[in-house]
Amino acid sequence: MPACTRWAPIPHPGMGHAMTEPILKLTDVRREFRRPRTSLRTPPPVVRAVNGVNLEVAPGERLGIVGESGSGKSTLLRLLSGLDQPTSGQIEVQGRRVDGQSSRQLKWLRETMQLVFQDPMSSLDPRMRVRDIIAEPLVAAGMSAAGKREERVVTLLQSVGLPKDAIDRYPHQFSGGQRQRISVARALAPQPKILVADEPVSALDVSVRAQVLNLIDNVVEGFDLTLIFVSHDLSVVRHVCDRVAVMRRGEFVEVAPTEELFADPQHAYTKQLIAAIPTLSAALGGRTAAALADEVNQQAGGENRD
Ligand SMILES: Nc1ncnc2c1ncn2[C@@H]1O[C@H](COP(=O)(O)OP(=O)(O)OP(=O)(O)O)[C@@H](O)[C@H]1O
Ligand SMILES: [Mg+2]
Repeated sequence: MPACTRWAPIPHPGMGHAMTEPILKLTDVRREFRRPRTSLRTPPPVVRAVNGVNLEVAPGERLGIVGESGSGKSTLLRLLSGLDQPTSGQIEVQGRRVDGQSSRQLKWLRETMQLVFQDPMSSLDPRMRVRDIIAEPLVAAGMSAAGKREERVVTLLQSVGLPKDAIDRYPHQFSGGQRQRISVARALAPQPKILVADEPVSALDVSVRAQVLNLIDNVVEGFDLTLIFVSHDLSVVRHVCDRVAVMRRGEFVEVAPTEELFADPQHAYTKQLIAAIPTLSAALGGRTAAALADEVNQQAGGENRD
C-alpha cells in the first residue's frame, strides 16, 4: 500500500453526517401531561404531548420541525433544552445527558444551546437597555471586564444588522423585526453551538419575515451553528432548513431532506401541510385541504389519544 493512503479515512457506509457524532440525540422521548379530572369515576385524562420521538441531528445541520398547533413542538423544544423533563426517554446534547439533570447540572447547556422565541416583546425585559440585555449572558459566563463586554455587544449588534447606538435604547423603542434581531444577538452572546428557534417569525409582519429569516440563515452560516427551527408553516421552514420533521399528535410522522419532502411527500399529513401553501397545492392534483384531511384520518387509522 503506498504510504500516502495509510491516513485516508476508512470508507464508511452513509458517509457525511452519519460519520460524525450527533450533536443532538433523542431516544424514544415522551412527555405526558395529566389534565384535571372531569369525573370521580374515570382517571384523569392524559395528553401525550410528545409520544416516542427519535431523532439524531448532525453538527451544522438545520432541522425544521413542522406541525399544527398543539402537535407538541414547543414541548419537544422545552425537553431538549432542559426546561422540562421527559416522562421517559433519553436526550443527549454533544453526548451528554440532558434528561434527569438539575438546572445546576445543566449550566453548560445554557451556553451550548440558545433559544429564540416567537414574541420578542415578552422574551426581552422591557426595563433593560439593549446593552444589558445582550451582556447578561456574558456576565453569567464570567466576562467581568465592562469594556470588553461593551466591545462584544457592539460586535454582536453589527452582526445582526443593528446600529451601534441601539445599545442605549429599550426594547419598546424598536420595531418587531428589530426586537427579534436583539433576541438573536443575545442568543449569540454566549457563543452557542445550537440555536433553537420556536416560531421566530410568526408574530412578525409579513414584510419583515423574510429579513429575519435571512438573518437567521446568515448567523447559522457565519457562526457555524446547528439550527432547530420550529414553525407551523412549511414554507417558512423551506427557506432555512435542510431537513424537516413533520410532527403530528406528539409523533414524527415523516422526516426527510427538505427538497425531497416537497417533491415527494409520503404522509398524507405532509401533503395536507403542503396543500396549505397556496402556490404549491396544484402539485398535489388540486385536491382540497378538506379531502386531504380525510386522507390523513384514514392513513392515521384510528390512532386515537386519550
Ligand atoms: N404544562 C402543560 N400542562 C398540560 N398540558 C400541556 C402543557 N404544555 C403543553 N400541553 C399540551 O401538550 C400539547 C402540545 O402542546 P405544545 O405547546 O407543545 O404544542 P405546539 O405544537 O407548540 O403548538 P403551537 O403551534 O400552538 O405553539 C397540547 O395539547 C397542550 O395543551
Ligand atoms: Mg408552540
